[in-house]
Amino acid sequence: MSTEILAGHDRADRERTADRERTADRERTADRERTADRERTADRERTADRERTAERLLRSTAARSYDPDLDIDWSAPLVAGKAFMPEHRCSLYGTALWEKLSPEQRLELGKHEAASVAGVGIWLEFMLLRMLAKLAYQGDPASRHIQYALAEMADECRHSTMFARMIERIGTPVYGPPQHIKTLGSVLPELARGPAMWGAILIGEEITDRFQREMVGDESIQPLMRMVNRIHIMEEARHIGFARAELMRSAETMSRAALPAHQLLLARTGFIVSRSLINPQVYRSAGLDPRMARRVALANPHHQRTIRFGGEKVMAFLAEAGLVGGPGMPLWRRSFLLG
Ligand SMILES: [Fe+2]
Ligand SMILES: [Fe+2]
Repeated sequence: MSTEILAGHDRADRERTADRERTADRERTADRERTADRERTADRERTADRERTAERLLRSTAARSYDPDLDIDWSAPLVAGKAFMPEHRCSLYGTALWEKLSPEQRLELGKHEAASVAGVGIWLEFMLLRMLAKLAYQGDPASRHIQYALAEMADECRHSTMFARMIERIGTPVYGPPQHIKTLGSVLPELARGPAMWGAILIGEEITDRFQREMVGDESIQPLMRMVNRIHIMEEARHIGFARAELMRSAETMSRAALPAHQLLLARTGFIVSRSLINPQVYRSAGLDPRMARRVALANPHHQRTIRFGGEKVMAFLAEAGLVGGPGMPLWRRSFLLG
């Protein structure tokens, strides 16, 4: 073959290769555009979905909200002999130590344990308020989503005041988590975002909600406690719906690489909340040594079951969302929240 013919073949080859590269390049660009389009559509759908949820919750807030200042008769006397929480939910119930307590001591301990749970509720609401404020600060105030976040903040302000007045009325100290946990909790609203943030909110809201639901229909419980719980349950249903929907939406956009960090932060929150519910100082009200009674409570299968009962619904939801697992498992197991 002559040199000219060979050079002609080479040129044709090069042109065909360049052509193939141009086509591949065009296809890659088109692919990228299609993916970006799909992401934009999914984003728009998520925003529309979020706005619909917020609209529905705002309507519910307008129709069903309570003002504990007016809706609770704070001057009504406490009923002598009625309990402040069900006996079988007391942390020492079923132990030899419990058997040694008189009915009066059991009643008094139940009152202080109920106050401890309410005190932890206030602490959790303070953290939630900061997380909602962060969300509102970063969002569009004209959106229904942010307007609902503001409505929820208003609910939580009323709740914390209501719990504080309840504690004042029953005459116990304001218990809460120990100082080092409070310090740790003060960074949670800064650290947590996405599924870990919404999951932490749900752990705080759903565990206390479960205990409160059990009490509203129980005639043996003080009317004041039942009324406070009734108001809280009704408004909390919206908050739980909001946080669950937000968790699902944020989980859709979370990267696989971020999952272990979310699992660990959530497990840490679950462990801290479960251990903070009963402040060991409550045992002084029954004349018991806090350290010794705390040890008995943590080893008490009834108490462990009570914690599991409190977490039953939220744990099922978090597990379904893939957030219970990985590096969080040792903490979940120690928390008694796992079924
Ligand atoms: Fe609340
Ligand atoms: Fe709430």
